[in-house]
Amino acid sequence: MMEQGKVKIFRFDPDKDKAPHYETYSFPFENGMTVLDVLLYVRNHTDSTLSFTYCCRNGHCGLCGVIANKVPCLSCHEAAVQELTIDPLDKQTVVRDLLIEQSIYTSRIGKLKLFMCREKTDALVRPEFISTESFEPIKIASRCVECKCCDAACPLEIGEDKFLGPSGFVLLTRHFLDPRDELDRNYLLKDGNIEHCIHCGRCTRVCPHNVDPENMISRLQAHR
Ligand code: SF4
Ligand code: SF4
Ligand code: FES
Repeated sequence: MMEQGKVKIFRFDPDKDKAPHYETYSFPFENGMTVLDVLLYVRNHTDSTLSFTYCCRNGHCGLCGVIANKVPCLSCHEAAVQELTIDPLDKQTVVRDLLIEQSIYTSRIGKLKLFMCREKTDALVRPEFISTESFEPIKIASRCVECKCCDAACPLEIGEDKFLGPSGFVLLTRHFLDPRDELDRNYLLKDGNIEHCIHCGRCTRVCPHNVDPENMISRLQAHR
């Protein structure tokens, strides 16, 4: 007989509920299933009102972040265990259940000028040389899928006029450390209060793509 698992899921429907609460569901547990498989089982077999986001099921769209047993993770990437508690990502506004508001994050990130800025050089001169050494951190930062798991793990308060958050600094690294970029981005580090980082490494421990946000923040601090 197939083993049964038990999952406790954060539920909140602002149209109906006065406050968030948990609901517990059973699911058929199989080795190799992911946290997302559990959510899909509950939605498809038990409660079709359960809301959450996902797209690629392959670790790349960054849309399926949740907190599983107190650890931020990509639900399509994280192996399920028989006893699970699933919460929405911390530091985000919950729209409903595990669904989080994306527009607050995208508007904050939109201010970071995440494009290559050429003010002095003739951008039409091709090809442009970039050394392997300079390219390495840019390549690593480019693996970020903006899942915001690192932000959820960070003990600092993140937001407008507060700490930018590890995910924002990772995105900034791609341009800040690019020798071809000509914009002085130091003011973005100051505005993002980079000095608030306490280098606890929690962001690095949860990153599903081994981007090492703490190291990226150290590189930015050393580079300015
Ligand atoms: S650095 Fe890692 S944890 Fe943070 S948003 Fe990017 S992929 Fe996600
Ligand atoms: S190392 Fe810095 S950015 Fe990362 S979790 Fe700790 S305080 Fe937050
Ligand atoms: S569903 Fe795309 S990263 Fe998980």
